[in-house]
Amino acid sequence: MELRLTSGKTLSVSEGENILSALKRQGVFLVASCGGKGTCGKCNVRMVSGDAEIASYGKLEQKERDKGLVLACKTIPKGDVTVEIPDESRLVVGDKIAVSKTRDFFELLESFNVQISPLVKKACLKIEPPTIHDNISDLERLKRELERYGVKGVRFSHKFVSSLSKSLRNAGWKISLGYTDGPEAIFVSEFESCKDNYGLAIDIGTTTVVVCLVNLIDGRIIDVGSTYNSQMRYGDDVITRIVYATEGGGLDELRDTVITDINNITTLLAERHGLSLEEIESAVVAGNTTMAHLFWGLDPGYIREAPYIPITNYFPIWKAGTAKLNINSQAPVYTVPCIASYVGGDIVAGVLASKLNKNPELALFMDIGTNGEIAIGNNEWIMTAACSAGPCFEGSGIRHGMRATEGAIESVKIDPETLEPEIGVIGDAKPMGICGSGMIDAISEMFLTGIINQKGRLMPNPKTGRIRDGEEGREFVLHRDEDRSIVLTEVDIENILRAKAAIYAGVTLLLKEVGFGLEAIERVYIAGGFGNYLDVDRAIILGMLPDLPLDKFTFLGNTSITGAYLCLLSEDLRKEAEEIASKMTYMELSVSRNFMDEYMSALFLPHTDMSQFPTVGKMLKGL
Ligand code: FES
Repeated sequence: MELRLTSGKTLSVSEGENILSALKRQGVFLVASCGGKGTCGKCNVRMVSGDAEIASYGKLEQKERDKGLVLACKTIPKGDVTVEIPDESRLVVGDKIAVSKTRDFFELLESFNVQISPLVKKACLKIEPPTIHDNISDLERLKRELERYGVKGVRFSHKFVSSLSKSLRNAGWKISLGYTDGPEAIFVSEFESCKDNYGLAIDIGTTTVVVCLVNLIDGRIIDVGSTYNSQMRYGDDVITRIVYATEGGGLDELRDTVITDINNITTLLAERHGLSLEEIESAVVAGNTTMAHLFWGLDPGYIREAPYIPITNYFPIWKAGTAKLNINSQAPVYTVPCIASYVGGDIVAGVLASKLNKNPELALFMDIGTNGEIAIGNNEWIMTAACSAGPCFEGSGIRHGMRATEGAIESVKIDPETLEPEIGVIGDAKPMGICGSGMIDAISEMFLTGIINQKGRLMPNPKTGRIRDGEEGREFVLHRDEDRSIVLTEVDIENILRAKAAIYAGVTLLLKEVGFGLEAIERVYIAGGFGNYLDVDRAIILGMLPDLPLDKFTFLGNTSITGAYLCLLSEDLRKEAEEIASKMTYMELSVSRNFMDEYMSALFLPHTDMSQFPTVGKMLKGL
C-alpha cells in the first residue's frame, strides 16, 4: 500500500502498520514523546485522502479532528492514503544545534593544575631493522627498543602481534607506538604521528549529543559539534527508551541510532580540520546510566524494575571498535562512572566540573534537564538523588510544549492591568509552541497577575477574554491564531507544578536528611541545557528553585561535556571522577516516607509554607 506525503514523497505502508511506524521505517521522523502509546498527542498528521482505522484520537480536540488531524501512531491505513505532516509534528534530528569553539574549558583545566595525561601515550621509536647477525624476532626487537625508551612490562594482544611485522616494515622501522596504562600496546602508526594525539569528549544526553574534538598534546578544543539525540524517535524520556530496548527488542537499534549521531558529528569535525578518523585515538563518554548502557549495547531493563539495578556503574575501558565508534578501532574509551540507576556519569562529570567536591562551603548542584538530578555536599561528603521531574520542561506532556528551538515561546510578560501577554519567540518566528523557560515565565506571571491561584487553577476574570473552556478543561490563550492558538491548559499547569514540586521536594528532603536548612546553602550550581535559558527570579516565584539571594546562583551550562573533556585530558581527573562516584551517597527518593509530604507541600505556588519563599511573599504583598 502507498503512503503518500503532500510534500511529494511516496512511501510504503504494510498491512496492519501504523503511519508513525511506516514513516520511521523510511526515515521520516515525527515528534513521538510517548513512544507511540497515543498519550502525548504530538505525532499528529492530517489525512488528506484514503481510508484508515483510527484506534484513538488521544488528546486531539474536536476542532482538530474536523480538520482531518489524526495521531500517526494510532492510525492504520486500510489502503493507499495521502497525509500532510504539520511543521510542529516534524522531529528535526541530526540537525546541528550548535557548533562552537570554547576557551572556557581550557581555562578550567588549567585551574585544576594537573598534568595533561591522556588515555593513550606515544613512544616514538626508531628501531634497528633486523640483519642476519641481529636476528631476534620482530616482537623481541620492539620490546628491546621500548625498554631502551623507558617503557617496561608492556602487554601485547594477539590482534596487535598478528599485524606487527607488516606494520613495522610498512613504516620503515620508524614508528609511533600507542599504548595505554597497563601498559598495553594498542597500535602502531607512522613515526610523524608521534607529535599528534587527538581525542573525543562525548556527552550523551537524553535529548542532545555533544562531541568535542580535542588536541591531547596541548589540551585545546579544536571544535565542538552537537545534535539532538536521534533516540528521541523512540520516546522522550529514558523510561520509554528502556521499554523499547527491552520489550520492543530495540536495544541494537537504540545503540546504533546514538552511535550514528556521534559518528556523523565526528566525521564532520574531522573533515573540517583535515584529520583522518584513524588519527582520533581515544574518547571519554559521559551520560546518564541508561544512556551509558545503551551506548555500550548493555540491556538497561533492570534499571526500570525495583530495586532499580543497573548492570554496572563502573565501565571497563573498552575499545572504540566495540562501541562501533568510527575512530581508530583500538582507541580506548573511558566512561565516566555512574552512581545508580537514575544518577549517572553526567552528574559525576558535573560535580567534577563544578568543583563542589573540593570546597568546604555547602553547595547544591542541580542538573535540570530531561529528568532533574541534584547533589548536595562539600569536600567531605556528597548526597545525590534523582527527582523524577520528567521531561515536561522540554515539552513532553504539555499540550503545546516543545523544545527550545525556533518557533518556541521562550519568554512571557503579562501586563498586570490588561492581563495581555507579551511573548518572545525563538528566532522571532511564528509561535509553534512553548518551551521550558516560556512555561516558567508564563506560570509565574499568571500567578503574580492573579490569572491563576496558588493551586494553579485559572480564576474567572472579566478583564481578560483569554480564559476559555477547552477539551481538557480551562485554558489560557497565550497566542491567538486562526489556525492554531497556543494555550496553557490547567492540565499543563498541573504537570508543570508536579515537575517543579518533584525538584524542590528533592532538594528539601536531601537537605533534611543531612540536617541542614535551605539557609545553609552557600552556592547553587545550575547545570543542564535548560540552565542556559532559566530565569532564576521566575523559577523562584514558581517554587522550583529555593528562595536564595540571586548572587548565590551560578550557571554552568552543560557540565556533562565539561567533565568528559577534563577526564579525556587528565589521569588525575579520571581518578577524581572515580573518587566522586565512590563518595556520593545515593538516596532513592521514591521510597522515602517523607518525600510525599515534601512533594505535596511543593505542589502550590510557590509552596504551602510561604516562610520558605520570603521574597515571593514580599512581592505578592507589594502588588
Ligand atoms: Fe503518538 Fe505520542 S501520541 S507518539
